[in-house]
Order: sequence, then C-alpha cells, then structure tokens
Amino acid sequence: MLLITICVGSSCSLRGSDELATELFGLIKKEKLEGLVDIIGAFCMDACSKGVSVRVGEQEFSGIRPEQAETFFYREVLPRVKSQLRPASADPAPDAGKESSS
Ligand code: FES
Repeated sequence: MLLITICVGSSCSLRGSDELATELFGLIKKEKLEGLVDIIGAFCMDACSKGVSVRVGEQEFSGIRPEQAETFFYREVLPRVKSQLRPASADPAPDAGKESSS
C-alpha cells in the first residue's frame, strides 16, 4: 500500500489541500488503484510557506497546487505504485531456464 499524506494544517488548507485530496482520490479511482494507494491527512508538516505539503511514501513534496494534481499523480504517484507491483524477480537471472546437461 502506497500512502499519500496531505497536510491539512491551516496554511495548507487555505492553499487547497482539500481540493488536492479530492483530485487525487478521483485519479486513484480512475486508475482503479483503490486498495493500492490511500490518502491520509496530517497536521502541519513544517513547510507552511511553500504551499500544500504532501508526502508520497517517504518522499516529501511542497508547494503542490490542486490544479497540479493530475501532473503530480502521473509523475510521482503512479510510477511508485507500478514499481511496488513489479515482482522482485521480474528480471530472471541469466541462468534461469537453462537445464543442466550433466
Ligand atoms: S500547515 Fe501544512 S505544512 Fe504547515
């Protein structure tokens, strides 16, 4: 599960954190990622002056505006979800599939 944390502190709320969350929820639904991505709120993430603060997994972003939600989602969220879905052994070892002839 990839967790998106959106600051809902007063400064970020004034800059549109609710609208950003709504947009991101819509994109999660559009891409059928329910159960793979979740959004939670957090109080002040100590970057008030920069705009809405968001954390995707462990990476923090600031200054995200609601109208940037789609770009942000496809650039920062979807690739992380896809990388989590990729099996660890997606690239078979060079010897995989070879049979021993001895
Ligand atoms: S209110 Fe969002 S970072 Fe401070």
